[in-house]
Parts: sequence; C-alpha cells; structure tokens
Amino acid sequence: MAEEELALFSHDETEDLSFQPDVVVRPRDPAIVPEILALAHRLKVPVTPRGAGTGLSGGALPVQGGIVLSLDRCDRILDINTENMVAVVQPGVITQVLQEKVEEAGLYYPPDPASRGSCTIGGNLAENAGGPHAVKYGVTSDYVMGLHAVLADGTLIRCGGARRKDVAGYDLTKLFVGSEGTLGIITQATLRLVPLPVERAVLLASFPTLRAGLEGVLAVFRGVTPSACELLERDAVEAAASHLRRPVPVPGAEALIVMEVDGFTPEEVERQMMAAGERLEGAGAVEVRVAMTRREREELWALRAATGEAVKAISTYKEEDCSVPRSKIVELVLGVKAIARKAGIRTICYGHAGDGNIHVNVLRMDMDEQKWQEHLPAVIEEIFELTVSLGGSITGEHGVGWTQRRYLPLQFGHAEMAAFRAIKDALDPDGILNPGKIFPG
Ligand code: LAC
Ligand code: ZN
Repeated sequence: MAEEELALFSHDETEDLSFQPDVVVRPRDPAIVPEILALAHRLKVPVTPRGAGTGLSGGALPVQGGIVLSLDRCDRILDINTENMVAVVQPGVITQVLQEKVEEAGLYYPPDPASRGSCTIGGNLAENAGGPHAVKYGVTSDYVMGLHAVLADGTLIRCGGARRKDVAGYDLTKLFVGSEGTLGIITQATLRLVPLPVERAVLLASFPTLRAGLEGVLAVFRGVTPSACELLERDAVEAAASHLRRPVPVPGAEALIVMEVDGFTPEEVERQMMAAGERLEGAGAVEVRVAMTRREREELWALRAATGEAVKAISTYKEEDCSVPRSKIVELVLGVKAIARKAGIRTICYGHAGDGNIHVNVLRMDMDEQKWQEHLPAVIEEIFELTVSLGGSITGEHGVGWTQRRYLPLQFGHAEMAAFRAIKDALDPDGILNPGKIFPG
C-alpha cells in the first residue's frame, strides 16, 4: 500500500491526531482474523482494529504503528430472524444499513450514534456506542446477545447467541463490548431486535436561558419517557444551522430541546406529545413546536446530527463526553460553563441531556498555541472532577481510547485500575491488541 493509502488509516474523527500504520489488512472474510492475529502474536506486532474510523476518542489510531486491521469489508448481514427477533452480522455492516434492513421486517435496532450513516457495528460494539434513542432504548451493549471474538493469540471465542436466557459461565459477551479493541477482535455479533414503533413525533422547545432548558429536560421525565431528549445550547444551534446553510430554527433562544416520542398508535404518540408539551411549557419554554411530517422531523434530526461536525469546524478543539445521573445535568452544564468562563476558554455544550450525557467541546479560538497547551489539561481535569463529584463518568459513549486515558484515574481508584489491568494481562499478556489505549501512560 502506498504511503497516501496508509495515511487514510492513520486517523479517525478524533481531533487532528494521526499515526501512520506500517501495514493495513482489510480482509473480506472474518474467518481469516485468527490467522492474522496468530501471526502478529508470533511476531509481537501491535494490532489496532478499525471499523469505519468515526470514533471520537482515538480508539482506532495505531499509536504504536504495526498493523491496522480494518474490518470494514466484512460487511455481510448473515441473518435477520424474525421469530427470535435477532440479527446476526459481520462487524463491517454500517449501522444504518442494518437498521433499514431490519425495518423492512417490521423490527427495530435502536442504537443510533450520530455517525450511523457511516459507522460500523463492530466499532459500535468496541466503543459501546450510544446515541439519542438510548434514553428510551438503551445503548449498544443492551442489544448484544452473543459474539465471536478473536483473542490476541488468534484463539476464537464464541459466547452467547440467539437464546434470551443464559447464565452459564462469566458473561464474556459484555466483557468484550466496550473494551475498545483491547481484549479481542469481534468478528460476528448476534443482536437483539425489538418491534418497530411505527408512529413518532418530534417536538422542538425553545428556552430563554440555558438553565431553563436544562430544567425543561428534567420536567419532561416527570410523566413521559421520550424516545429522544436532546439539548443544544444557542452556540451549538447556530453552528449547526450555519454548517447546513439553514436559518436558525428559533432565533434568540438560549437553549433548544429536540424531543421525540414514539409508539404503535397515533393516540399513544398524541398522548405523550401533549403531556411532554405541557411539562415543557410548565418549565418555561417560550415555544413548543411539533414537527409532524417526516420531512420536518428529518430536518430537525439533520440539524442535531450535524452539530458535532459543525462545532468542531469552528476552531481547534478538545471534545469531552461527560455523563452524570440525569438529575445532575443542571449542575454539570452550568458548572462547566463557570469553569470555562474562569479560564477564559469558550465551550459549546450539546447532547443527550435526557441521559445526563453532554458533549462539551472546548474551543481554542484565537488563544495562542502555547497558552492553550498549558491551560487545557487543568480545565479538562476540573470539568472531570466536577463530573465525577456529581456521580458521573468521564465518558458516556465515546470511549477512553487514546485521548482520555490520562483522566481515567480521576474516576477509578487503584483497586478498579488493577482489576482492569488483570483482565487485560490475562487475555493479552504481550499487550499487542490496541496498545496505548484506555490505560494511562
Ligand atoms: C453526537 C456525537 C458527537 O452526539 O456523539 O453528536
Ligand atoms: Zn453523542
């Protein structure tokens, strides 16, 4: 492979980081993965697995060179079983492709990261991806019933399957999910499907202050379980609208909530919509609009999905993914704003507020590079200390990967870090699988 081709596999969607691999392997058949790993194991060469490279914590970066093992060509849907309500897939299947296929059968695979049009199931499993619909339906790990995973030495492990109940042995399936390619390489997955809710409506609520918007999120849940409840602060809305060259939906609003309810009958959706609308108005919404047509709904979701990219296009940035119990989002977001204000740094917050999961983008703007490098770690640390003090996690869905590893000990003590280490050493004693990730320096 030419240098330029290797360069395509040197980065993912994380900041401007880039590490050149020595070799890229892109099998079409996952059956070859045990052989590839057995060889790498013999030669003690690092192997960095990769899906579509849409990750946001540098999980797919080959930070120690070696082999990038890209599973993107292993993209077959092997089975959609409507009786057992499961799909069996190879890791390279694009998430949205799977979703559209199962919808044809009247079924639903809910996990929907913003990148669902290009990310792969394998990457979603590795990072335990979330997305807007997690607030009602849960995250990727809630849908994984079984796996094939190849260990560092090439051994193939099969765990779980289409059976709903199984308590035999340790739950290796759950161990591999979210392990960020550090314990094994997933070559097949059995995924749980649910009935497709055919009716949905999207509400757009605007608020005069950020605090009111955050309190609006809490108010909704006193009576309704929305299928999505996203919050965007004013700067996030303006960035996304300008990125898509569209007008801002509600000019002047300091916060917007994009909320969805779903169900199986129009009445069910109507009832939830009314209840949610009342609660949003009660919490101080200036306006609650309902997007009834498919087109209006898609436009709102397009705005939300473009937010990440739009915010990142503004300036050099560092992206955080704070997750707290829902009841703490007001303190989290207002606290982040106060920390940033004190440090003279701009932040833009948006995300899965109904889940207590907020993406905090810290922007460099015109701060000089040296000052930025000096100030940034302390600001991030302060944001994470606040997050953890609120009962939260330093990452809700993007993973620790490469960029957050130094902050992991803010959340875990020696005992937990030692347990992580023991598991890693047991399954990958030579440390060839996605080295440099999760564990600090
Ligand atoms: C989102 C990505 C950044 O929610 O997780 O847009
Ligand atoms: Zn997100």
